[in-house]
Amino acid sequence: MATVTFDKATRIYPGSTKPAVDALDIEIADGEFLVLVGPSGCGKSTSLRMLAGLEDVNGGAIRIGDRDVTHLPPKDRDIAMVFQNYALYPHMTVADNMGFALKIAGVNKAEIRQKVEEAAKILDLTEYLDRKPKALSGGQRQRVAMGRAIVREPQVFLMDEPLSNLDAKLRVSTRTQIASLQRRLGITTVYVTHDQVEALTMGDRVAVLKDGLLQQVDTPRNMYDKPANLFVAGFIGSPAMNLIEVPVTDGGVKFGNSVVPVQRDALSATSDKTVTVGVRPEHFDVAGPDSDLGVAVTVNVVEELGSDAFVYGTAQLGGEAKDIVVRVGGRDVPEKGSELHVVPRAGETHVFSTSSGARLSD
Ligand SMILES: Nc1ncnc2c1ncn2[C@@H]1O[C@H](COP(=O)(O)OP(=O)(O)O)[C@@H](O)[C@H]1O
Ligand SMILES: [Mg+2]
Repeated sequence: MATVTFDKATRIYPGSTKPAVDALDIEIADGEFLVLVGPSGCGKSTSLRMLAGLEDVNGGAIRIGDRDVTHLPPKDRDIAMVFQNYALYPHMTVADNMGFALKIAGVNKAEIRQKVEEAAKILDLTEYLDRKPKALSGGQRQRVAMGRAIVREPQVFLMDEPLSNLDAKLRVSTRTQIASLQRRLGITTVYVTHDQVEALTMGDRVAVLKDGLLQQVDTPRNMYDKPANLFVAGFIGSPAMNLIEVPVTDGGVKFGNSVVPVQRDALSATSDKTVTVGVRPEHFDVAGPDSDLGVAVTVNVVEELGSDAFVYGTAQLGGEAKDIVVRVGGRDVPEKGSELHVVPRAGETHVFSTSSGARLSD
């Protein structure tokens, strides 16, 4: 087992001037499950491939434990990677697929068989060992790809969107299996996904990337409670946080007819006349159409989830129509076309600089 360190690791692809990954700094603890998440093209796969040795590092360093692996070939790094397309050999049985890397490494047959059987047991694949990949379901193929990584007993697991070929239901159950398997094996894991729900549910910590730049590394809880900037605020959470530009006034911000108190420090940190306030859908106080509280929201769509419901509406704010999402109780659902008045609950707002995007509240 080992720690993994990205030390200002940079990748500039030939012919490009802009780094695909720009001075990435992350320290991953021994046994930790770290998830790299961000929109398509933000540099997740490139980061993982640099760690695997499949991509040159043009600046900075990468360490596994106290070994500098920056320029080591992949085979000398003691890692195992699970790819999105599984990359199984179609003409080989499950057992041969799982044992292939050990065979190449010259491990004797009996030992390979023993390790493959152990992994198959963990992954519930024992009865499929003699089948070919084409005779397996998507979920079973995914487990074979995991098994191939497990038998090598590497210091680090790398996984690049390993669930993206599974249907939605299987994706949810498999993500729990992978997370619990990782915890059982205790092997340091770097896992890439573009899906923020997957990131929050699986990771000990989550690292958010945008345009090759690290935005925040944090526990799922902190990432949700204290997003470091407007990008993370909008990216983490579903439905997304409402981000609303509002005027600064004495003691707070003006939200329609109401003044919402926010931290004094947050406002003294900026000389701007407006700030962007972030409010999660579950953090509005809601009143009926006769109220003069906050702003009026016209209900466009209601998404009922049983226990609660999400109201998708439009409000007039600063002379513009603004979409707003509000969570309400499941037994308290407004009609489409009706009007609600909403005001952010004091103490539950996030304040960001509109100009720089930086978080101003603590
Ligand atoms: N082999 C390559 N040559 C040139 N540019 C590449 C190559 N691979 C990826 N890129 C570019 O680098 C950026 C990051 O890509 P990638 O790491 O694959 O993103 P992600 O995995 O987050 O979707 C993108 O702009 C992509 O177009
Ligand atoms: Mg990718």
